[in-house]
Amino acid sequence: MTELVTLREVEGAPMPSASGPCAMRTIGLDAYFGSVHAVRSVSLDMPSNEVTAIIGPSGCGKSTLLRTLNRMHETVPTARVSGQVLFHGQDIYADEVNPITLRRHVGMVFQRPTPFPTMSIRDNVAAGLRVQAGDKPRRAEVDAIVERALREAALWDEVKDRLNASATGISGGQQQRLCIARALATAPHVLLLDEPTASLDPASTQKVEELVYELRRTMTVVIVTHNMQQAARVSDRTVFMLAGELVETAPTRVMFTTPSDPRTEAYITGRFG
Ligand SMILES: Nc1ncnc2c1ncn2[C@@H]1O[C@H](COP(=O)(O)OP(=O)(O)OP(=O)(O)O)[C@@H](O)[C@H]1O
Ligand SMILES: [Mg+2]
Repeated sequence: MTELVTLREVEGAPMPSASGPCAMRTIGLDAYFGSVHAVRSVSLDMPSNEVTAIIGPSGCGKSTLLRTLNRMHETVPTARVSGQVLFHGQDIYADEVNPITLRRHVGMVFQRPTPFPTMSIRDNVAAGLRVQAGDKPRRAEVDAIVERALREAALWDEVKDRLNASATGISGGQQQRLCIARALATAPHVLLLDEPTASLDPASTQKVEELVYELRRTMTVVIVTHNMQQAARVSDRTVFMLAGELVETAPTRVMFTTPSDPRTEAYITGRFG
């Protein structure tokens, strides 16, 4: 990727290059909710144009780690972080970084589909575009972005004849792909997915998995999943977490065949969790 990314648009500071081996990196990252120490000293590289899967038992800190990567964590009162998260080498917790700008570059999709119920399919996708005051995109431009995002989310063919219909009138699987389209509309460099298929049927799950597999051609994906088969199917690298700590990270095939830590082996062979 050669495009330049800046998180400091407002200040107009120099723009570092978006190219480089790691779109996202954490260094000695700790995350807390009040006195709960949910993520413990995690140092993790998430290489560009790869899918990184985070697995581990319930409560081990997967969602919390994911939410530190676009500063959603801090939207919870009492939440705080220490250590660093680098996005293309920039510290996203630096004072001058605007979290709203960051989240346009580092998009997120949650476990349950969260379409805006009063909006049409089209407006749901367009809602992801931040319109600068006095710089409203033309309708034709918005339409083009909406079509691109819906095509990328593999939903265009199913909804193209009812773009003005309510987003609540489509199936749960379609709603989740709509939320993915909404996240893709801002052309993020990184997409964070927190158990995106947990509420979907097998056919919809397969569609979302195929989509995740495809997206790596243009972006970096980090996916939290309870489902080890899913991690094995869609990811290039897998991260195993336990009690807030990163136990092991390895290429997915290595992780699921010859894990190096006995705790990873116990988990993937179903002996706990
Ligand atoms: N809003 C919150 N307030 C206080 N503690 C929280 C909050 N959210 C999560 N925690 C705690 O932080 C720890 C990590 O939770 P997290 O949601 O990251 O786990 P997880 O691995 O995503 O679990 P699951 O697989 O069940 O989604 C847990 O001990 C949890 O109870
Ligand atoms: Mg979770």
